[in-house]
Amino acid sequence: MIRHFLRDDDLTPAEQAAVLDLAARMKTDRYGHQPLAGPKSVAVLFDKQSLRTRISFDVGIAELGGHPLVVDTQVTHFGRGETLADAGRVLSRYVAAIVLRTHGDDRIAEVAAHATVPVVNALTDTYHPCQLLADLLTVRERFGGTAGRTLAYVGDAANNMAHSYLLAGTTAGMHVRTAGPAEFQPDPEIVARAEKIATTTGGSVRVLTDPAEAVRGAHVIATDTWTSMGQESDGLDRITPFLPYQVNAALLGHADTDVIVLHCLPAHRGEEITDEALDGPHSAVFDQAENRLHAQKALLTFLLEESA
Ligand code: CP
Ligand code: NVA
Repeated sequence: MIRHFLRDDDLTPAEQAAVLDLAARMKTDRYGHQPLAGPKSVAVLFDKQSLRTRISFDVGIAELGGHPLVVDTQVTHFGRGETLADAGRVLSRYVAAIVLRTHGDDRIAEVAAHATVPVVNALTDTYHPCQLLADLLTVRERFGGTAGRTLAYVGDAANNMAHSYLLAGTTAGMHVRTAGPAEFQPDPEIVARAEKIATTTGGSVRVLTDPAEAVRGAHVIATDTWTSMGQESDGLDRITPFLPYQVNAALLGHADTDVIVLHCLPAHRGEEITDEALDGPHSAVFDQAENRLHAQKALLTFLLEESA
C-alpha cells in the first residue's frame, strides 16, 4: 500500500515516534543514509512561496543520495492546464515521491488519490505536518521526550499550524493548548480528532481565548504569522484582534522557567513575536528550522520503506 503524509495523523503514535527516532539518528550521521541512491528522483512542487521547505527538501533529498526536482508550479501545467489527477499519474511514472505545497486540501488529496508513489504535504491551507515533525524533534532534544509536556500555541488558532499542533502534539502525547481571538478558533472537527487521539496517548486538548491561561506552566510556547499565505486580501483585520497574543517577555513570564519558544518562520518581528522572544535564551527557533531537514529525510525514508 502506498503511504502518503497528507496530515499529521496519517502517522500513528508509534510511527511518528519511529520517524523522530530515525531523524535523530540521521542528524548525528548526516551523510550516512542513502535510501534514494540510484539516484531516485523526488518532485518538490510549490503552488505557494517557500524558503525553508524548498531548501530543506532539496538538500535532504540530495543527502539521501537522490535527485531533487524543485519546481514552481506556475511554470508548469500543474492543476491548471491539466487536472491534478493526471499530473499525479504522470509524475508517478518519473519520481519516487511527490512533495507538494498547495492551497486547499482537496488539491493534494486529488494528487494522492491518483499517484502511485508517496505524496507528502509540504503545507496546505489546513495543515503543515512536516513542520510539526521538526518541532517535535526539537521538543525531544530540549526535554528528552514529548509525552506529558505542555505546548501552548498562541495567535491565529484557525490556521494550518494550529491544526497541526493539535493533531501532531496529541499524537506525541503532549498536552496541547491553543489560544486565539474568538473569531480565529480551530476547526471543531480537527479539535475533535485531536481529542480522540489524546485519549489513546495520554495527551489532552484545551481550546482557549486567554493567552496567559494557555501558557501558564507551559514547556513550549509556539506562534505563527497572523496572516498566512493566501490570506493577504481576505478583508479581515489581522492585527488588532491578535495584539494580546504577541509572544513577548511578559507572556513568557507566565510559562515554565525552562520554556522554549517555537516559530515555524518566516517571523513578522514586532507582530506575533518580539525580537527578545525570538533571539533570547528561550528561543529554539533556529534548531527548529534546522530540524526540518532531518525530520523530512526520515519521513521520506519511512514512507518509501512502508510503500515498497
Ligand atoms: N516554515 C516554513 O515552512 O517556511 P517556508 O514557508 O519558508 O518553507
Ligand atoms: N501559517 C503560515 C505558515 C508559513 C510556514 C502560512 O500558511 O503562511
